[in-house]
Formats: sequence, C-alpha cells, structure tokens
Amino acid sequence: MRAVILIGGMGTRLRPFTLATPKPLLPVLNRPFLEYQFQVLSRHGVREVVLCTSYRAETFRRVFGNGRRLGLRISYARERIPLGTGGAIKNAESLLRGTTLVLNGDVLNAFDPGAFLKFHRARRAEISIALTRVKDPTQYGLVLTDEKGMVRRFLEKPSWDEVVTNAINAGAYLFEPSVFAHIPPGKPYSVERGLFPERLAAGARIAGYVAPGYWIDIGSVEAYLQVHLDLLQGRAPFKPGPRARALKNADDARVTTGAGTKIAPFARFSGSVSLGASVRIGRGAQLSDCVVLDGAFIGDGARLERCVVGPGARVGTHTVLGPGTALAGGSSVGDYSQL
Ligand code: GDD
Ligand code: MG
Repeated sequence: MRAVILIGGMGTRLRPFTLATPKPLLPVLNRPFLEYQFQVLSRHGVREVVLCTSYRAETFRRVFGNGRRLGLRISYARERIPLGTGGAIKNAESLLRGTTLVLNGDVLNAFDPGAFLKFHRARRAEISIALTRVKDPTQYGLVLTDEKGMVRRFLEKPSWDEVVTNAINAGAYLFEPSVFAHIPPGKPYSVERGLFPERLAAGARIAGYVAPGYWIDIGSVEAYLQVHLDLLQGRAPFKPGPRARALKNADDARVTTGAGTKIAPFARFSGSVSLGASVRIGRGAQLSDCVVLDGAFIGDGARLERCVVGPGARVGTHTVLGPGTALAGGSSVGDYSQL
C-alpha cells in the first residue's frame, strides 16, 4: 500500500516558527517532526510514500531526498498553487496505485495502517476515515458514525452548538481508486469541506475507524510544545533523533540536549525540557516544561515556563518567559523583561 502525505499547508497558527521552516520539518527532539510518522509507516511495512508539497516545497526534497536514508521510497507531487487537501491528492493521482493511505503531515498518529486496511475492506468502504476523540472538536472535523461504524455526517470546524460527538477526523484516510474521479483536477478543493460531505450526500460508503494509540496535531504552539512533553515522558512510542541525549543529573526532570549545548552551573530543570544543538543556558537559569531550539541563548537567572524559544533567539539575564510564549527565531528579549 502506498501512502500520500499532505504537507503543503502554511502552518499559520504555528508562526513564528513556520515562517522559516514548514510545520512537518519543525524539529522535535532533534528530528524533523514528519520522521516520527515515517517511523509508524515503516514499522508497518508501508515504504512507498508520496509527499504533496506546496509551501516551501524545495526544502522537503533537500531534507528527505528519495527517502533511502529512512528506509522509504519517497516521491514528490508539487502544486504550483496550493490546491487544498483534495486538490493535492488529485495532483498526486498518477503516482498512486490501488487502495491509498492518505495522511495529514502535521499529525503524529501511532496507529496500525494494516488494522485500518482490514477494517476498511471488511466494511467494503469507498473511503475510511480514522477517528480520534478530543475535548474540543471545534478545532477539527467532526465525524458522526452509526452503530455499524459508517459515517453519517462530516462537519469541518463545527461551532459548539453543532458538537454532537467527541469523535473527530484524525487526518488519516483510506481511499479506493474510484474516489479520484470525484475530485476536480487542477483547482483548489477540500476533502473536508467538499469530498466527504458530497460523497455522503451521494450515498457513498464511508466508514469511521476509531484508531487506538497516541495522536496529536501539532498545528498550534501549545501542541508543538505538548508533543515534546509527551515524547519526553514516554507517552508516545517513538525514537528521538540520533543526537538527542538525555541529560544526567537533571534532578527529577527529563531533559534532552543536542550536540554542543552548554549548561552553566546552578541551572535548574523541572518537568520535561528539550534543548536543541549549540544552546547556551546561563548560570542559575530555571527551565520548566519548555523547548529551546538550536543555537538559542538563555541568560543567567532567566526563568522559562511552558514556552518555546526559536532557533538562535536570545533571552536576557533574569528575564521571565511565561506559559504560551513563542519567541521567534533570531529575536532577542532584553534583560529583566517579563513576557
Ligand atoms: N499539499 C497541500 N496543499 N497540503 C495542504 C494544503 C494544500 O493546499 N492545505 C493544507 N495542507 C496540509 C497541511 O500541511 C496539513 O498537513 C494538512 O493538509 C491539514 O491541514 P491543516 O491546516 O493542518 O488542517 P487542520 O489541522 O485545521 O484540520 C485538518 O486536520 C484535523 C486533524 O488534525 C482537517 O483534516 C480536520 O478535519 C482534522 O480533524
Ligand atoms: Mg492540522
């Protein structure tokens, strides 16, 4: 089975970090985020991958190439203008064969594609949608299924008064080849707002598969921080980057560092902390549940809690960065500031 991964979005909710790096390439424990989803695919024998690119398309090819390093065969379908989720899949049609696995590229989903395929075949579905349960379905695609697991309704970004279930689209689908005929070629089209509701209205068989296991969409700064905390705390079964090292003597905290990172005396860590490569942590700095990307500098006595510091950013002496702070790469915050 081939997989097609949608990675063309602009990642606007994850700015400033996505201004320089597209969302699927953002580092998570010293590894591009998408490589974690690749781990799931190769673990289950899916080795043929088509990447649908648009925003900063060339950077993906530079990082993943033909996929050999990752044990995959990667090819690329590039959009000249963003074609939306449906248009992107249609644009890749000539590279796909048979039943196709479609994945959103900003999701990490520890599901079993083989079990998903079995479910799909048993339901004789034209499309199957993997589902997960969340507290706030308004940020996602709401999926209402009947007692047999067939989808009755698909509603993208519902308002709270439309929320009738906590099951949402996990961003993984199985498509029979017949589906492609229902996607218009060469123009922007969405599977969530177009294809799924339209095929349901036409009476097509769409099945909803509740996928067990870890799931996260890293579309917001908070979620990008959360995936680090989850991996560090062992809540998700993934291998961090080869150069991510666990820091010893970190009290009870879980801390990883990249190559060349230097930590001055009396720095203190609590919770889970991810430090990139060549980071400097000043004397007596205190870091709790945060992410500091490559080359950043944290001044003496600075205090960071639940925040993300971009690559090469500089945090002044005794500065406090509170929960939710997202410091842009290369930016600088002066001494004694409070954010
Ligand atoms: N190639 C390409 N071209 N990819 C695109 C385009 C495009 O024009 N637009 C979006 N994508 C990719 C994004 O890069 C991302 O990986 C995926 O499609 C989904 O887009 P998001 O912008 O992240 O959508 P979302 O998170 O608001 O909602 C989607 O994901 C949820 C699960 O995380 C929807 O599919 C929801 O229904 C779903 O619940
Ligand atoms: Mg998303």
